[in-house]
Amino acid sequence: MADNKERTLVLLKPDAVQRGLVGTIIGRLEGRGLLIAAMKLIHMDKAMASRHYEAHVERPFFPGLVDFITSGPLVAMVLQGPNVVEMVRNTMGATNPLQSSPGTIRGDLATDIGRNLVHGSDSLEAAQREIALFFEESEIVDYSRSVDPWVIEQ
Ligand code: RTP
Ligand code: MG
Repeated sequence: MADNKERTLVLLKPDAVQRGLVGTIIGRLEGRGLLIAAMKLIHMDKAMASRHYEAHVERPFFPGLVDFITSGPLVAMVLQGPNVVEMVRNTMGATNPLQSSPGTIRGDLATDIGRNLVHGSDSLEAAQREIALFFEESEIVDYSRSVDPWVIEQ
């Protein structure tokens, strides 16, 4: 059976906040049955953004990516559930909205790879590192929901 307590980091990027899509995007993720374990609004500085995107430091798009992700507040969340990394990334859609399937967040709501609304960790290892960058352990809430047996086979 899958581990129900797998966690991932999701960011609703500054474009999502500015466009008033926070509720819509959270609703799509919530609708899949994922549990919100932590959530806050935060305006990242460049040092934190560089740590978050450290894997991309050598890429040509890195300076623009850091400028964009620090351009306004974003919503950071920890989501929890079985296979949560894959679940979130499938719900987000492909990185480039040109290739994102309709029905995904990016496929329905985004146009440009540099304004693609959401971030989701790409592995459980990355999730652990990224979650620790955004949240203290005490900010992550461990709870269950009475609806869980209707979402996840126990
Ligand atoms: P994210 O990290 O934001 O969740 O997105 P991702 O895994 O789908 O994509 P990743 O390869 O990690 O790239 C991080 C962000 O960098 C921007 N990007 N621009 N111009 C380009 O070729 C390019 N490639 C990536 C995107 O905004 C992407 O979300
Ligand atoms: Mg990524």
